[in-house]
Amino acid sequence: MQSGLLIAFEGIDGTGKSTHLSLLAAFLRGQGRKVVETREPTDGPHGQRIRALFRNRKQVSPEQELELFLLDRRQHVAECIHPALAQGAIVLTDRYYFSTAAYQGAAGCDPAQVFARHDFAPEPDLVLLLTLPVAEGVLRIRTQRGETPNDFEQQEQLEKVAALFASFPHSCIVRISAARSLAEVQSSIRAAVQKLLVRKGV
Ligand code: TYD
Repeated sequence: MQSGLLIAFEGIDGTGKSTHLSLLAAFLRGQGRKVVETREPTDGPHGQRIRALFRNRKQVSPEQELELFLLDRRQHVAECIHPALAQGAIVLTDRYYFSTAAYQGAAGCDPAQVFARHDFAPEPDLVLLLTLPVAEGVLRIRTQRGETPNDFEQQEQLEKVAALFASFPHSCIVRISAARSLAEVQSSIRAAVQKLLVRKGV
């Protein structure tokens, strides 16, 4: 079976993951590569339920919240990620299970157990972890998106999320400072991806 590559974008809210994912996708397509862009929470039924929770997180316990993200991810892996990898695509996902370990970890779940419950999910070939001081991320959400940070994005909680992201020891993680211009950040991202492509010989 032909196998593609899985690249996850991770980081706290406001780091510019979605923008950089689109720019990278266009760059890789320009090289003639097959690229699939996707995101979590998904647009499927579980993802929609999660998005509905954004405004009032108190409705569910951290454990129930974790179950919802796991359901959403199972469906995402089965219906999108696995098939795309089997077709040899480069899959770019905006968030993956590191977000669950960090966000639901910050909410009280054990991050090690969160990782352990992802034996169904393929390990990414590369995790681009965009880093940014939390206050800067929150400011960007307010000023650039014109949004009020949602329940997942409250500053104190995000400090815990950032600390967990910083603690993950996985060798697939490359940390990239997002506290620079868009062009500089994108250039670091492309360099990390190029290194992966060379390493994989593709
Ligand atoms: P986000 O990437 O900000 O979605 P969008 O930009 O489309 O609004 O993700 C929404 C929120 O969901 C974000 O604050 C982090 C949270 N989240 C978790 O808590 N756990 C997870 O496993 C995932 C994937 C996201």
